[in-house]
Amino acid sequence: MPEIPKDRLPRHIGIIMDGNGRWANNRGLAREHGHERGADAVRTTVRAARKIGVEALTLFAFSSQNWDRPPQEVFHLMALLRRYLVEERGEILDNNIRLVTVGQTHRLPEYVLEPMTDLMKASADNDGMILCLALSYGGREMITDAVRKLARAVAAGTLKPDDIDTRAIEAQLDSSRMLPPLDLLIRTSGEHRISNFFLWEAAYAELFFTEVLWPDFERANLIEALHDFAGRERRFGLTSNQLDDARADGPEEPEAP
Ligand code: IPE
Ligand code: IPE
Ligand code: MG
Repeated sequence: MPEIPKDRLPRHIGIIMDGNGRWANNRGLAREHGHERGADAVRTTVRAARKIGVEALTLFAFSSQNWDRPPQEVFHLMALLRRYLVEERGEILDNNIRLVTVGQTHRLPEYVLEPMTDLMKASADNDGMILCLALSYGGREMITDAVRKLARAVAAGTLKPDDIDTRAIEAQLDSSRMLPPLDLLIRTSGEHRISNFFLWEAAYAELFFTEVLWPDFERANLIEALHDFAGRERRFGLTSNQLDDARADGPEEPEAP
């Protein structure tokens, strides 16, 4: 496949890593085996994205709703997360990757928070790529938190209700403070839904769905999504002619609203 020109690469990719349970089920294995193989796919994908030159990669690893899964599965996922953070520490630091998180991370157990906080601190100055883990994450929960903060500011008299616009809400979202705008959203496993991931952030993201189950996701699958993305015309509500005119006027594509 031909190289994708740098200016056709997404700056920020989000992935809903779905299908671990079905992968295991198809092989007569316990769901936990699927999650373990899913962690291998995480390693491969982070490495590939770093090499390709993506600025930021957000992996939806655990949703606010996933807490309601059977306790044994939740425990296994948390233990796996800890293992990932401990085992990948060296590779993340060696590759100049900065680790950040989004989500209600205070709900995570201490044995996850400890290596997570440590790696976030150790990698804070890295600028090769941002790896963002969405943990205990819910898009609705994040928007609700943002709105509550604005309501407090109104109650305190430091913000006027009329000054609440989309930028004011966005300014309260960790994602917008830490990450470039979401350009490409990938979901594996053939499901065509967002499942409470980046609800706000995905407003103008390009969506890419694949039947591949997450443990089977390889570098080639990522490249396929990138080629697909490179061929799309992002109009942000404008017409094709307007985009042509804007391109003729200067190198900048129109900003997302
Ligand atoms: C994704 O795989 C991992 C998490 C949600 C934590 P699933 O566990 O949802 O796998 P399926 O959808 O049941 O196959
Ligand atoms: C979304 O997958 C959450 C993650 C990938 C972490 P789910 O498997 O939880 O979503 P649904 O239940 O299919 O909507
Ligand atoms: Mg699932």
